[in-house]
Parts: sequence; C-alpha cells; structure tokens
Amino acid sequence: MPATVIVGLQWGDEGKGKVIDSLAGNFDAVARFNGGSNAGHTVVVTGTTLAFHLLPSGVLQRKKLLIGNGVVVDPEVLLKELEEVAALNVPVDLMISDRAHLTLGPHKFRDRLEEGRRGSSAIGSTLRGISPTYADRAARTGIRVGDLADDDSLKLAFETFGAWNRALLTRVYGEDGETIAKDSFDRLKEVAGRIRPYIADVSKVANDILARRGKLLLEGAQGFYLDVDFGTYPYVTATHTLAQYAPAGIGVPSQSIEAVLGVAKAYCTRVGAGPFVTEISGQMAESLRKKGAEYGATTGRPRRIGWFDAVAAKYAARASGVTELVLTKVDVLGGLDRVLVCDGYLDGDRTLTEPPSSIVALRRCRPHYREFEGWPDLTAESWRKLGKEGAYALPAKLLTFVEAMRDVVDCPVGYVSYGPDRSDIVRLS
Ligand code: IMP
Repeated sequence: MPATVIVGLQWGDEGKGKVIDSLAGNFDAVARFNGGSNAGHTVVVTGTTLAFHLLPSGVLQRKKLLIGNGVVVDPEVLLKELEEVAALNVPVDLMISDRAHLTLGPHKFRDRLEEGRRGSSAIGSTLRGISPTYADRAARTGIRVGDLADDDSLKLAFETFGAWNRALLTRVYGEDGETIAKDSFDRLKEVAGRIRPYIADVSKVANDILARRGKLLLEGAQGFYLDVDFGTYPYVTATHTLAQYAPAGIGVPSQSIEAVLGVAKAYCTRVGAGPFVTEISGQMAESLRKKGAEYGATTGRPRRIGWFDAVAAKYAARASGVTELVLTKVDVLGGLDRVLVCDGYLDGDRTLTEPPSSIVALRRCRPHYREFEGWPDLTAESWRKLGKEGAYALPAKLLTFVEAMRDVVDCPVGYVSYGPDRSDIVRLS
C-alpha cells in the first residue's frame, strides 16, 4: 500500500532519522512535510555520523527526495547540505515544492529578537527563523520557493515581504530593517539560480508515484508535544507534528496513508523550555545524557532528560492514529537496576490519565510511576545474536519491558531500535 508516515511521539529527537534511514530501502521516495531547519535528523552509517536539517533522511539510501509545501526552506541551509552530500559523492534526486515558504534573514533576526523580548519566558527556540516564517505564511506576507523561478516573480514577492519586515524590524524592534531586508534580497538573488533546478509541483510528483503503485515514506519533524495545537503551548514549534498533517503538507490524499509509525525513545528528552512532568536531574540524568549522546543535533544544547511518559505517548499515538510503535534507544537504559514508566499524572488528590492542555496545570502534575526490572547492557555477543536471530534475542527483562509497552501506550510495538547504526533495529511480529 502506498504511503507510510513516521512521526515522533515525544519532543522530537526520538531517533526518527535513523529509523527512516533503516526503512527507506523499501520505499521509492522519502518526503518531508513539516518543520524546517530546526529539525536535526541524525544518521549513522558504518560509524560516520551525519546530521540533516532539511534534506529528507532517505538521502543516503539514494532515494527520490521530496520537500513538501508544509516545510519551510532556508536556502542557505539547503545549499550547504547539498554541498556536504556532494562531497560524499552521493547523488541527490531532490524536488522542492513551489508552494513551500522560504526562511530568510529577516526571519532569523525576528526569532532572536522575539526570544530576547520574552526574556525569562523565552520558548528556547532553535533560532532558525521557523516561527516567523510560518507567521508570514499565515499573514500572507511570505515568499515561496516558486517565487525564485524568475527575477520578476522574486521582485514582486519581495515587495510585500520586504515592506512588512522592514516595518516590523524597525518600528517594533528598533533595528535597521532597511539594511536587513536589502541584504536578504541581494543574497536571495545570488542563490536563486542554484535552487531553481529543484523547484517542482511536489504534489503532482507524489501523486504520480502513488498512481504507479510506488511507495512513499512521509517523514515528520519534531514530535507530538511540540505540535502547535496539541503540544505544551506556547512552548511548541509553529507547525503541526501529527501524522494527519503529512497529506496536507505534501498534497496527497489522506486515503493514501496505510500505516503510521510512531517513534518513541525508551525514556524522554526535551530541548528548550516548557513543562516536562517526568524530568529527572542529578547523576542519573547526567549519565543517560552522556550514554545517549543527548545533545541537540541543531544547536548542540544538552537535552533535558526524563523517564518514559506513557500518559503523553498514549495520547500522541491515539491522536495521530499510530498503527505501530517504534521503540528506540533501549540500549541506553541497559545496566540500570530499575526502569520507570509514568502511567499517570498526580494533580493534588486526582490521578490524571490524559494530559491537561494548560501549562499551569501541567506544571502542578507529578509523575506516578510503574517500575520495571532493568536489563543488562547489550554486549557485542548480544548485538551479534540480535542481528542474526531477531527480537527474541533481546535480554528477557528488556523483552518484558517491550511487551508491556504495548499496553501502556495501547499500541502494538513494531520495531525495537537498540543502537545508532541503521542495522541496529529488529522487527517484532
Ligand atoms: P523552534 O521551532 O525553533 O521555534 O523551537 C520551538 C521549540 O521546539 C523549542 O523548544 C525547540 O527546542 C523545539 N524544537 C524545534 N525543533 C526541534 C527538533 O527537531 N527536535 C527537538 N526539539 C525541537
């Protein structure tokens, strides 16, 4: 069946890039449908670590790559990534939707200025200009990739964009909006010719693939709790991260989606500010951060660490219609005596099993934990056995944990990922 969506069920950084890289071989094309260069998808191939921010994670599998209308595209980041991939001698077959919006210099300035204005209530944005780009899209003051097609279109689109951004930067933030806008226009004219060959009607291309019975893998960025509506608003990103945004963010029918893989780590992490009910600190947090290399792929910031939040993951899986859970980074928890999973939020004398929408209420909540016996660190021998024998070679206590996840998240577990390499993943059937 035609299209599979992959989404994160936590706060991003669940290991989606690796899962996509592992599964991409079974698909004809990999398409991004949301977010922009705030995403950081890490892929490890035979010991070499690569992080992509805009290019779909199927790049190293040499798949057709599509960037849909729902994505916001920073041309500078895109061109840099294309150069990096060219240096690896990997051919790139890329098409970018003419309807996707461009993230430009003024957006990045505005992101930084707005975070500064918020002071101690700053969102903890990646400062990649994402929210201002989506804001301009909604305000009808944005520039789209298709506007790069020729000089006249670019000039026309820049008139509205430039006027609005000059006014905003100068009058609201007291910056030199004139120069910022001019520099951005000059630079855009310089790079337009290099983006032009990739511009396409991606909806048409994707639908043609489906019509030929080809298979699409639709790659979500960020995670459920950063969704602009369902996340811990206002500590969220500026787009939808639900699987249902995939067809809208590419322009394919909803009925083409046959499977939704929800990726969740065996523990939680979050970068940026905002409530985090299962957050832990001290030595345990530090050692998991180190073992799991939990530092932002886009900003390098240390990620906040917590136990698995099943209240959140269950809600996320239900809302996105997840058909199978992909549990990642189980190896990072190896060697612990016990592993905790939050199955309820304690709010005064009430136990909540659905996360409240208000951050004030969320901040009051304390985790109620279910305890699991820990499993040993995976040895070279267990890695070898897993590769040969599959899931039933997982340590017994880890298998018990994985099987319990089906009930706590109310969703079958389809895959377990136990290491960073594309081959470190087993199917549970
Ligand atoms: P923004 O989308 O850059 O404005 O950031 C908004 C919030 O989403 C911040 O807390 C970021 O740290 C977080 N965020 C954005 N993209 C990602 C991602 O790909 N992984 C994890 N967190 C992200």
